[in-house]
Amino acid sequence: MKSIQMVDLAAQYDRLKTDIDAAMNEVIVRSQFIQGEAVRQFEQNLAEKLDVPFVWGCGNGTDALQMAFMALELNPGDEIIVPSFNYIAAAEAAALMGLKPVFVDVDEHTFCIDPISVKNAIKTNTKAIVAVHLFGQCAPMEELLDLAKAHQLFVIEDTAQAIGAQYTFSDGRIRYAGTMGDVGTLSFFPSKNLGCYGDGGAVLTRSEPLAERLKMIRNHGQKVKYTHEIIGINSRLDTLQAAILDVKLKHLDSFTAARQALAKNYSEAFSKIAGLIPPSISAQSTHVFHQYTLRCTHGNRQALADFLKSKGIPTMIYYPIALHLQPVFKAEHGELNLPVSLRLCDEVISLPMHTEMTDEQRAYIIGAVCEFFS
Ligand SMILES: Cc1ncc(COP(=O)(O)O)c(C=O)c1O
Repeated sequence: MKSIQMVDLAAQYDRLKTDIDAAMNEVIVRSQFIQGEAVRQFEQNLAEKLDVPFVWGCGNGTDALQMAFMALELNPGDEIIVPSFNYIAAAEAAALMGLKPVFVDVDEHTFCIDPISVKNAIKTNTKAIVAVHLFGQCAPMEELLDLAKAHQLFVIEDTAQAIGAQYTFSDGRIRYAGTMGDVGTLSFFPSKNLGCYGDGGAVLTRSEPLAERLKMIRNHGQKVKYTHEIIGINSRLDTLQAAILDVKLKHLDSFTAARQALAKNYSEAFSKIAGLIPPSISAQSTHVFHQYTLRCTHGNRQALADFLKSKGIPTMIYYPIALHLQPVFKAEHGELNLPVSLRLCDEVISLPMHTEMTDEQRAYIIGAVCEFFS
């Protein structure tokens, strides 16, 4: 059996090689490496796919968050609410701009930001909520947008892990992740559900004025070359990456279906194991399974990881330390009481999840997990 990896990018490239090689070759022949035609084409195709009017590529998902904060004209000292059980990017980009990240707790079932915790954290200086669609399903957008409206806050959707997930509102409206708040952000880091061959990201919005600012910000604050109207950054999506992404975008639905099928197989096999909780799917959102993350509730997570490793099965802990307890934030935020985030950091374990898993590999992983608990 081929060795098992968390993500098998080489096998995916092998499958799409003809189209990807042709797309890359075309960019090289044209040699318009910055803001070339493939960038415009990919932005347009992604906008159509996600049913949102404005999509701009940028350098990576962390820049996308920074660009969102800049476009929303947040100022030093403004508070922005972020979940503590999360990747560092949003809190880091905020801190870099002198904004104050305010860490809140998450829901133990969906792992996404908890609206009650958000509500309790809103103060006079609060300016925005970062709704992180963690592991591939949407945060509770209806509740978050209601809170934002009531308190005049911006909502930024960190969609790095959830491209293609769909959220259903109580009135029946269905929207793609990243297209419901003021600005949505994407990462095309290679292992993401839609990943390029290096760094890449995008910002999404429905607002024309915000779109205009975002477009200027990614390119040194200019609309007209060498006329700099606002402070921006240099964060463009390379033409080569856009060409690769445009090929892969056509496969996004089938990538998602493969991930969902694998997750279904895993969850069916693990649902009756005492001490192991499969990921739950919220009633309002589809789940695109960027990660398949279980909870090990009997204190034996490390033993499980060691056992699987001995069988050649890698696992990962996303995330081992809650953000408010990270060395960089602990002095200021370490006293916060965020029990769910802490518990999840001790319990979660992610299994290999990708689009190229063979039936044999899947059966082997499921067999090994069941063997450990038997
Ligand atoms: C939730 C989340 N937000 C933001 C990012 C940042 O994306 P990038 O690595 O492209 O900067 C990541 C990347 O892992 C992420 O998982």
